[in-house]
Amino acid sequence: MSKDKKPDVMEKIVSLCKRRGFIFQSSEIYGGIGGFWDYGPYGVKMKRAIEALWWDYMVEQRSNVEGLDSTIISNPKVWAASGHLDKFGDLMTDCRECKSRHRVDQMEDPTTCPNCDSKDLTEPREFNLMMKTYVGPVSTEENVAYLRAETCQPIFVDFNQVRVSARQKLPFGIAQVGKAFRNEINPRNFIFRSREFTQMEMEFFCFAEDSMEWYGYWRDQRLAYYKDLLEFTDEDIRTEDHAPDALAHYAKAALDIEFKFPFGWGELEGIHHRGEWDMTRHQEFSGDNLEYFDQENNRKVTPTVVETSVGLDRTFLALLCKAYDEDTADTNKEGKAQDTRVVLRFPAIVAPIQVAVLPLSKKLAPQAEEVYKKVRKYFRSEMDLTGSIGKRYRRQDEIGTPYCITFDFESLEDNAVTIRNRDTMSQERVAIEDLRDYFEKAIDKQ
Ligand code: GAP
Repeated sequence: MSKDKKPDVMEKIVSLCKRRGFIFQSSEIYGGIGGFWDYGPYGVKMKRAIEALWWDYMVEQRSNVEGLDSTIISNPKVWAASGHLDKFGDLMTDCRECKSRHRVDQMEDPTTCPNCDSKDLTEPREFNLMMKTYVGPVSTEENVAYLRAETCQPIFVDFNQVRVSARQKLPFGIAQVGKAFRNEINPRNFIFRSREFTQMEMEFFCFAEDSMEWYGYWRDQRLAYYKDLLEFTDEDIRTEDHAPDALAHYAKAALDIEFKFPFGWGELEGIHHRGEWDMTRHQEFSGDNLEYFDQENNRKVTPTVVETSVGLDRTFLALLCKAYDEDTADTNKEGKAQDTRVVLRFPAIVAPIQVAVLPLSKKLAPQAEEVYKKVRKYFRSEMDLTGSIGKRYRRQDEIGTPYCITFDFESLEDNAVTIRNRDTMSQERVAIEDLRDYFEKAIDKQ
């Protein structure tokens, strides 16, 4: 098995994703549109599974975190208050020679075009990343609105609404999963940096004096999530503290959880101590009182915020990169090496298909269908009838299915099936009535 993830592995992953319907360019028949990606049948299954896992871990399993689903467009004053209209930008430069555009902070040498080596670059200038639109029939300045650049701002704005209706007291959190939009200058590395993406964010409101403790708590919780649920190891992820001079305009302390992608270490998640910045600003700009009355100590405080913020698409990409494997040690009956077996070794909990039902012969389809109907109630499943059993195993390996059920002629007699494990290749005979129990134990780690 090759563990050597060379950069060209990205090309293989992108091509596999397109071929097997995980992820492909948006509006491809029109030539696509830079930085936008569609998730196909297997992609959307897995995307929802990742979201459900995050939501369960961050919201359902905690009594001190509430959920929210806010709109993508809000009153534009939200983005003036958050600082995004002023400060949310990058310096960019254009190459006069080849007409390519670059973010200055990403150039190795800001005086040379990374595309064609020309020195003829325009003066760096500020570029705001907010996506602009108009609300209502007239496209005038007073009707300008913005697509949210992060999902957390509506959480701050709705703080009182959520706190009062959910009868929460400090400290507590509000979580949201949803689309965010950034007019990135250079979308790149497949879904790593795109212009439309999904964020999973949790804002934890606490007292200033306890906030560094909560910051450490959430860092540890998030690392445990990656290791225990997504099966990332110390070789896959690391934490990087932001240097004080590199902190975002709102942050008092921040760290990135980085993943080792084939193209290098890249940010997967940010843990940010946002201080009182957001709540103070929204209070100032809205004129509403966002203070919290601390009954125990008879005082009013502006809540301090600790944030965990991760991209769903980046999590997906990290899982793809970690899972991609090529197995050339496989041999056929004559002992000859088969062509390469491509396997996505996804953790079963997020695999798009968790159980595939494969009748050995088409004649067994009606009985196998009964098994399929039983398992699909509890696990993401599919049935595949076409091609040799070997080919069908390969197909399932390629989409990362951890368990294949083979229904054979003996199954008619003993009411049992063979379960083939993607990673160990071991085969086990299991009674049909025990399948739910078997897979629940094998798949559900929470
Ligand atoms: N609320 C804080 C915030 O948005 P961020 O570091 O700008 O912080 C958080 O973004 C996470 O969102 C990143 O760690 C990344 O996973 C994801 N993300 C940010 N920009 C992205 C983009 N253009 N494409 C895909 N994911 C992105």
